[in-house]
Amino acid sequence: MYNRTCAACHAGQLPQAPKKGDRAAWEPRLAQGMEILTGHVTQGFKAMPPRGLCMDCSAEDYQAIIEWMSQ
Ligand code: HEC
Repeated sequence: MYNRTCAACHAGQLPQAPKKGDRAAWEPRLAQGMEILTGHVTQGFKAMPPRGLCMDCSAEDYQAIIEWMSQ
């Protein structure tokens, strides 16, 4: 799922988007709490489009991807 949508921006192409595996970039984001983070993905956040362009991802999917991206 990450490769299908999120990776288009979260693999280093967009400097504002926290990269997969970049713990330092993810730490302050994770500090907001998982509910806020999944909400930001669903509604869109600054330069990130709503749903992160994954129209069939559930909130559980976002949570799993966020946990995986921040490792
Ligand atoms: C079109 C580009 C794009 C796509 C696709 C995208 N993102 Fe993002 N994402 C961004 C950008 C840019 C930011 C940084 C926004 C900022 O803080 O300025 C971001 C930030 C985030 C954040 C942090 C939000 C916060 O509150 O700090 C999370 C979590 C996230 N993305 C998850 C995802 C997931 C999960 C997907 C795939 C379903 C995804 N993104 C797909 C561009 C994208």
